[in-house]
Formats: sequence, C-alpha cells, structure tokens
Amino acid sequence: MPGSRSDPLRAALAADGYPEFRQRLRESGCTRCALAAGRTRIVVDRGNPEAKILAIGEAPGAQEDARGVAFCGRAGKMLDDLFAAEGLSTDEHLLIVNVVKCRPPGNRAPHREEAARCRPFLERQLALSPARRIALMGATALRHFAPERAKRPLGAQVGRFFALPDWPDREFVTLYHPAAILYNRSLEPAAREHVRALAARVGVSDISQ
Ligand code: URA
Repeated sequence: MPGSRSDPLRAALAADGYPEFRQRLRESGCTRCALAAGRTRIVVDRGNPEAKILAIGEAPGAQEDARGVAFCGRAGKMLDDLFAAEGLSTDEHLLIVNVVKCRPPGNRAPHREEAARCRPFLERQLALSPARRIALMGATALRHFAPERAKRPLGAQVGRFFALPDWPDREFVTLYHPAAILYNRSLEPAAREHVRALAARVGVSDISQ
C-alpha cells in the first residue's frame, strides 16, 4: 500500500501476518488518541500469535507500559497461574491483548473514544489470530465486544460461552479480570472453574502436547 508506512493505522492494518502487524504497531508511534501523550511504550500483546485462545484484557498498567509486554505484572501472574493449573502456558497457548494498547493515566478504565480509536488494531488482532475461543476478561472487554450483555452484572456473565454475529466462527466467554481476583480473592474458585471450562472446550490434550 503506497504511503501507508507514514500512517500507523494503515501500516499496521496492511501487515500480512501477525508478527509483522505486531512489529509495525509497536514501532508506529501511534497518536490516534490522547493516551499516546502519557505512555512509555505501545503494548501490543504477550504470547503466541498461533495460539488457540485469544484473551482480551482492558489496558496496560505501569509494568506493562515500562516493558511493552501485556499482562507482565501481578495480574499477569494470576493469569499465568489460572491457566497453568489447567496445563496451559500463557506464553505458548494464549495470545493476550488489551482493548487499548497504551496505559491510561492512573490505571483508569479507557474512555469510549480511546477504545474506539484503538478498535481497528484489536479487530485486526482477532482477524489475524487463528484462535476460535475468545476470552473477554472483565467488564471493559465485555462492554466493548458485547455491550448488550455488559448491561447485566458481570457476575451473571462470567463463565458463559456465547456467539457474536460479527464474528461467526468464534466462541466468546467472559472471565473475571485477573486484577479483580487479586482484589477480591473470594472470586478465585469460580474463576478457576471458568478457566477449566475454557480449557476443556479447547481440548487441553490437543494443545498442551
Ligand atoms: N491489566 C490489563 O487489563 N492488561 C494488562 O496488560 C495488565 C493489566
């Protein structure tokens, strides 16, 4: 695409494969929303672009911003632990991304406008990923993919598998956000059940060999 290199959105979206997309977005210097002003690094993801599970969080935190790696802090360790209990490695068996790629000030939830500006990158991540199971971790991810569902309390959504007309070949499931589990440890047993159900759906024996 001539000239697309000068436009971070177009250059990243024009990438043929995920690794190229990842590199172009990381290096894009994107300024499509106000979050660009406060970030250290663009945080594209963590994990394996070929994984069968795509997990979507909210936004990078302080450690993610400093290192440029999604879910590399305390919440990430909780996520690692939940999947390790099912024989899965988050680096190998998951691709982990966020609704927005830059850290919001004070770790607030991303604003609707910021998420909308970043949405084409998230959609491209879905399109380039072969994952058929998509885990929406927490209320922000649920709100941006299934706003109607997000009107009901999160506790009534977690662990439920559902389809979305825009992504007919994918199956979605809502999970508690790992940071919420750290904040409220009473959520942990249910969270483990939900991850177990997701692992069973994917077929652990298929993907952990
Ligand atoms: N919380 C998120 O939603 N994403 C991260 O990358 C880290 C913490």
